[in-house]
Amino acid sequence: MAFRDFYALDPGEKNWSVPQDFDVTFNWDYDDGRAAMMGLYAKGKEMQWDAATRIDWDQELDEENPEQMPEESLPIHMAPCYLKMSAKEKGAVRKNFQAWQLSQFMQGEQGALICAAKIVTQVPDVDSKFYAATQTIDEARHVEAYKRLLTKFGVVYPMTKPLQDLIEQTLRDSRWDMTYLGMQVVIEGLALASFGQIRDHAQNPLCAQVNAYVMQDESRHVAFGRLALRDYYPQLTQKERDEREEFLVEASYLMRDRFDAVELWQNLGLPIEECATAMYESGFMEKFRNSLFTRILPIVKDIGLWGEYVQKGYTEMGVIDYAKADVQALQDEDENIARQFDARQKDIERVISRAQAAE
Ligand SMILES: [Fe+2]
Ligand SMILES: [Fe+2]
Repeated sequence: MAFRDFYALDPGEKNWSVPQDFDVTFNWDYDDGRAAMMGLYAKGKEMQWDAATRIDWDQELDEENPEQMPEESLPIHMAPCYLKMSAKEKGAVRKNFQAWQLSQFMQGEQGALICAAKIVTQVPDVDSKFYAATQTIDEARHVEAYKRLLTKFGVVYPMTKPLQDLIEQTLRDSRWDMTYLGMQVVIEGLALASFGQIRDHAQNPLCAQVNAYVMQDESRHVAFGRLALRDYYPQLTQKERDEREEFLVEASYLMRDRFDAVELWQNLGLPIEECATAMYESGFMEKFRNSLFTRILPIVKDIGLWGEYVQKGYTEMGVIDYAKADVQALQDEDENIARQFDARQKDIERVISRAQAAE
């Protein structure tokens, strides 16, 4: 079966082309680069992994709740239309919601793959080019891992319009730092918040594991954005920084409000108003928003985009306090959790091989 046959909605033409207008930049100095950036590059090379061997793809998924997520993770679990469904119908909604969400991860990872490659060509510093090259292969692996997982689901959705808009805006901008800001700070922050929910709540080991491994890489990607931008933004004028702050606030509203899965509810034939109300009131969505801003705000502050405009914007959104979150602690935790999944898998393999030997 071709992957395209899994699409529950027509994704349209095979290719989506975004016109580009920016300089591709060489650098003849080959300087050693910043120690922190070269350290990150060394780590990026050292921590490569293979989705084909690190993960046991034979692990099974539950038909009616593939990720084995708690019921409250479904944002419409309290909607009247959902409550009156049969167990089988509820199972179909759950499976489609999870597939829709994972599809956004897979499609977004392709966006990350292309943005990382754009950074390689566009960024003026050699050390950043080196690091971005390791990120490019990371992102390819992420697309591969989610594609494999979705193949097991047998259901896929196209990229949702708000995500497509955000990626398009990021790609069309000819200023190199905007690719970082859009992808490494905003979209990666969104991704970390979403992956984290599955990693931390899915009882299905395969689904939790895929997200844990992807997150282990993503935390390096966010660190990369921080390093590159922290050096660059102080060199800009206040007016130039203001433009970036406006973009950030606008993108933050978009992420908070527009990932509403409308096309999914429509495809399932559910009443939109009931779904919208249920989503708005869902405690899980609330947690998601908290985690989203915990991932983004400290970075925004750290890279020096902390002028009046941004502070006012985040105060109005009621999220300004998340700037105090400890990103380093979060990144260390992302790495530790991935290692725990490795340990779990090794232990299972050890028990199996001992059992085989005993036979
Ligand atoms: Fe990624
Ligand atoms: Fe990434």
